[in-house]
Amino acid sequence: MENGNYTPLFNLDSFERKPRFTNGFFQRDVLSVDQFSKDDLDYIFARADEMQAMSRKWGTCDLLKGYTLACVFYEPSTRTSSSFIAAMERLGGKVIPITEGIQYSSVSKGESLIDSMITLEQYCDVIVLRHPEIGSSSTAAKYVKVPIINAGDGAGEHPTQALLDLYTIKSELGTIDGLRISMAGDLRYGRTVHSLTKLLTKYDVSLRYVSPDTLRLPLELMNTLIDKKMDVREFSRVEEVIENTDVLYVTRIQKERFTDLAQYDEVKGYFNIDAELMQKAKEKMIVMHPLPRVGEIAYAIDKDPRAAYFRQVQNGLYIRMALLAAVLGQA
Ligand code: NCD
Repeated sequence: MENGNYTPLFNLDSFERKPRFTNGFFQRDVLSVDQFSKDDLDYIFARADEMQAMSRKWGTCDLLKGYTLACVFYEPSTRTSSSFIAAMERLGGKVIPITEGIQYSSVSKGESLIDSMITLEQYCDVIVLRHPEIGSSSTAAKYVKVPIINAGDGAGEHPTQALLDLYTIKSELGTIDGLRISMAGDLRYGRTVHSLTKLLTKYDVSLRYVSPDTLRLPLELMNTLIDKKMDVREFSRVEEVIENTDVLYVTRIQKERFTDLAQYDEVKGYFNIDAELMQKAKEKMIVMHPLPRVGEIAYAIDKDPRAAYFRQVQNGLYIRMALLAAVLGQA
């Protein structure tokens, strides 16, 4: 043990970290749903099916052994952060979670997002980022080499949520084409609505948007739908669309995005999906919600087999397992 004659700690030839698949996903950032082709979606959905089967049978596996995820949340989250952590752990990877404790990190000392990202990059192989500014993930992706997965950039996008939403529609109803999808809620600030809308332009669907006037879908997105000659209409009440709806996608009103809280007070409590309304709905349809709900859907509806929002939560785990494995070259 003297003069540098140490016994090596590791047999470095026994295990090698290298990509198994060098498809279009390897090392790619996930910033917006715009980047996915229909084939990409089918691929991720097929991998998510495999993740579900593996999880049910084994619980965990070693697919991402040797890889580390930094999960960085500058905005509150329950499902997105915990499902990414669960996804990484089920695949045998490790996680650096910077979520609840962001106030204890150097961000509270004024460190810039980019400095924090470049620092974390030194410790991990992939970063999941949620941040209140639109475009924050794209900015971060310009500075770091490891893949960045956008877990919500303010009122911008939430691409992994849209993937799990679409996967849920397909698993529940067996198809996407031909459906009438009604989105009710905060269409203006709701990033899940924005991402899902963009994704649905790739399919032959009818879209119905329901909101108070102040929370309508942003004009730019509406114009995209019109340019693509989608069958799209706007309404102010769910009652007007419920009878012919195959998917009712509800969101909460995004209180934190309002600059004037008096405006929020005018619309809070606007949506109330209850048993009376559900009586008017088709027998074969589903109710979805990205959650959290703050009163839009009555708890009594949870027992209705058409309430798909907790199955939607579970699908989020499989989609995120598939995505993490894909960007790390292991799926
Ligand atoms: C959504 C979000 O953060 O945009 N939540 C989620 O990720 N499941 C929806 C919301 O906060 O209303």
